Amino acid sequence: MNTIKACIFDLDGVIVDTAVYHYKAWKRLANSLGFDFTEHQNEQLKGVSRVRSLQLILGWGGVTKTEAEQEQLATQKNTWYMEMVNQMKPEEILPGAKEFLKSCRAVGLKTALGSASKNSMTILEKIGITDMFDAVIDGNKVSKAKPDPEVFLAGAQALGALPEECVVFEDAIAGVEAAIAGDMKVVGIGLPDVLKGANLVIKGLDEMTLDKLYKL
Ligand code: BG6
Ligand code: MG
Repeated sequence: MNTIKACIFDLDGVIVDTAVYHYKAWKRLANSLGFDFTEHQNEQLKGVSRVRSLQLILGWGGVTKTEAEQEQLATQKNTWYMEMVNQMKPEEILPGAKEFLKSCRAVGLKTALGSASKNSMTILEKIGITDMFDAVIDGNKVSKAKPDPEVFLAGAQALGALPEECVVFEDAIAGVEAAIAGDMKVVGIGLPDVLKGANLVIKGLDEMTLDKLYKL
């Protein structure tokens, strides 16, 4: 007898691969300030809030900016990012994501989005899966960034589930840590070496089944 009642999904890197758009926009911003950063450094930005990402990037470039300037830069990056997001089509949903969401809902499991992004509603609309979530908790609704568990705890509460009845799907180490801190089970999407502590690590939701979920 299993006690799983709900699944909470991160967005960027789990449902869609917007990480590449984030990377391109941040890179353009860094270049406009006269420096660059590597794809390897970019890994550290996954799951991290917009403001925190900017601070990390400015640190890599050895650039200091006032709070007002930082706000302007974050807005500029978001404008470039949204230009790419606005071109997104439903085909950009990652393999298996829609199918697994459907399987969950077919057996009565509740589903929520738990993302740091403030653009999550626009992205869900672009790929046409807004109606597949019972709740959407995103960067507009929480104040503490992952690895703080706030986003997932709010998701569980919105779904009427206890933390231990939830399974989180995450591609970022900060997100895996957030789920663990929230007392939830977590499926890592990516590499086992990176996503340490996850109950199971798979390459993508196309590898996920209800059978694997109930065995967690
Ligand atoms: C996370 C991404 O999902 O959202 C981060 O992994 C991003 O890279 C963060 O910085 C905030 O996104 P946004 O869309 O609000 O700038
Ligand atoms: Mg992510």
